[in-house]
Amino acid sequence: MLGTDTLLVSDDARVRVVTISRPKALNALNPEVIAGLSQVLDDTAAAARAGDVRALVLTGAGEKSFVAGADIAAMADMSVGTAREFARAGHGVGEALAGLPIPTIAAVHGFALGGGCELALACDFIYAAENAKFGQPEVKLGVIPGFGGTQRLARRVGLARALELCLTGDTIDAAEAARIGLVNRVLPAAELLPAALATARKIAEMGPVAVAEAKRVLHAGAGLPLAQANALEIEAFAGLFDTADQKEGMAAFLGKRKPEFRGQ
Ligand code: HXC
Repeated sequence: MLGTDTLLVSDDARVRVVTISRPKALNALNPEVIAGLSQVLDDTAAAARAGDVRALVLTGAGEKSFVAGADIAAMADMSVGTAREFARAGHGVGEALAGLPIPTIAAVHGFALGGGCELALACDFIYAAENAKFGQPEVKLGVIPGFGGTQRLARRVGLARALELCLTGDTIDAAEAARIGLVNRVLPAAELLPAALATARKIAEMGPVAVAEAKRVLHAGAGLPLAQANALEIEAFAGLFDTADQKEGMAAFLGKRKPEFRGQ
C-alpha cells in the first residue's frame, strides 16, 4: 500500500493528494519522510504514465503548518557525509516533482519554512492560505537551504529577493509572498484545498500529452538561453501533431463538442 504513518496518499478522479503528516512536529521532514516522498513520487510517475493520475496536490496535516522545515532534531548531530546524503535525498524529491509529467500544486497553510518552503518551490505552483508564512530561516541555525532553496527561490522571485530571504532568515506572509511572485493565489484557509483540487481537476481534463509537454518545455527552457529554449518549444509543438490528442482536440473544437483526450 502507498503511504506511511507520516505520509498519506489518496486518489480521487485522477487527482492524487499527498499529505505530509507529522503534525506534532509541524510536519518537519526527517529522512523517513523524504524516503517516503521519494517512493510515492516514483509510484506517481508510473501512475501518470499509465494515465491513472493526472495531477498532484501536496499539502500538510493539521491546522498550523504545511512543513516547518527539515527536522532539526534529526539534523543536529549529522556528519558532513550524512548531511550531504540528506541534502541529495531532498534534491531528489525536488527533481522527482519537477520531472513528473503532470502538474504539481503545493497547497500551503501555516508554516512553509526552510525545507518546507523548498518543497513548495519544487511544485509547479503554490496556492497559499491567508495564514501562510514562508521563509528560509536556515542561517539562524548556522546552515543554508539544502533542498534547493538557494536556486529555486532565486529563479522564482529573483536574486535580490532570494538573497534577502536567505540572508536575513526573515519570514514573509502570504500577501507578501504573492506580491513577489512566490505564490500564485492566496485564499481563505477553508478554501485552500478545494481551490487546489479544482485547479488540479481542471488541468486533469486537458490533453495529458500537451500538459506534460508544456510542463517539460517550461521547466527545461527556464535554464537555457532564449534561442535554445524557443527551439525546444518549436520541436515540442510540432511533435504534438503526431498525437491522437491533437487530432481529437482540434476536431472537437471544429465539431463544437467536448474533446475526449486519451493521453496518446
Ligand atoms: C523539528 C520542529 C521543527 C523542525 C517545529 N518543530 N519545527 N521539530 N524540526 N523544523 C517542533 C517543535 O520542536 C515543537 O516540538 C513542535 O514542533 C511545535 O513547535 P513550536 O516551536 O512549539 O511552535 P511555535 O512556537 O508555534 O513555533 C513555530 C515555528 C517554530 C516558528 C515554526 O517551531 C520554528 O521556528 N521551527 C523551526 C523552523 C526552521 O528553522 N525551519 C528550518 C529548518 S532547517 P515539541 O516537541 O517541543 O512540542 C531546514 C534545512 C532544509 O529546513 C535543508 C536540509 C538539507
